[in-house]
Amino acid sequence: MIRKQRFFFGTNTKMYKGIAETRDFVVALDRLNADISRDHVQLFVIPSYTTIQTARQAVPVESMLIGAQNMGWADEGQFTGEISPVMLQEVGADLVMVGHSERRHVLGETDIEENKKILKGLQHNFVMLLCVGETGEEKELNLSQEAVRSQLKRGLAGVQPEDMAKVWIAYEPVWAIGVGSTPASKEYAETMHQVIKQALVEQYGEMVGLAVPVLYGGSVNPENAVGLASQDSVDGLFIGRSAWDAKRFHGIIRDVLAVLEFVD
Ligand code: PGA
Repeated sequence: MIRKQRFFFGTNTKMYKGIAETRDFVVALDRLNADISRDHVQLFVIPSYTTIQTARQAVPVESMLIGAQNMGWADEGQFTGEISPVMLQEVGADLVMVGHSERRHVLGETDIEENKKILKGLQHNFVMLLCVGETGEEKELNLSQEAVRSQLKRGLAGVQPEDMAKVWIAYEPVWAIGVGSTPASKEYAETMHQVIKQALVEQYGEMVGLAVPVLYGGSVNPENAVGLASQDSVDGLFIGRSAWDAKRFHGIIRDVLAVLEFVD
């Protein structure tokens, strides 16, 4: 058995699943995982903006957090097409994801924007999930560690230690995400998670830095989930495609929990 203090399981449904499908998904997940104690386990689902309110009302917060996939960095203003933290609070979001690889690399966001969102979201008391990860090119050039350290430092600039209790990190190597990609090996993931934890400790000290959960994402599937989850520095799995069917997601959760032993 692998000893851990807690473990996180989450999914981002990207631009899939409308209102009815999202509701059915979270209700099924809630039901399938009903007998799993949440003392050491945190579940979360990050669906499309338009489905957040329905999802939040469909299942209790004790069962899972519901998050937003992005957020504008101002409370209001002339930002056509953006959704503000005030609006996200209104629909009941608990968590906001910032800096997903598709936001950075398909939609062109920068660390500066991610940082503004993190600071603003923390003001509104959201759990902020900051995604970091090197591109395939950075990996080729042996720059993975530098890339991730830089994203962390820039993304978290100005975040006070007392606010770090509301920050989660997802390590998602760009080359490992989505259709046709290769998942990171468990050894590679462990090394990168150690780098992230080290960077957090340098910035915030051991007590605060080591308390920040670091989740792995990028082609997690039923075959590799247990191996990844068994690594010392992997505090959770952040899953795309393999989690979009509630039963399949639940299967991964069961398999992982079967090898974990929780200690206080
Ligand atoms: P994937 O997506 O599991 O489908 O690779 C991961 C993600 O984008 O977070």
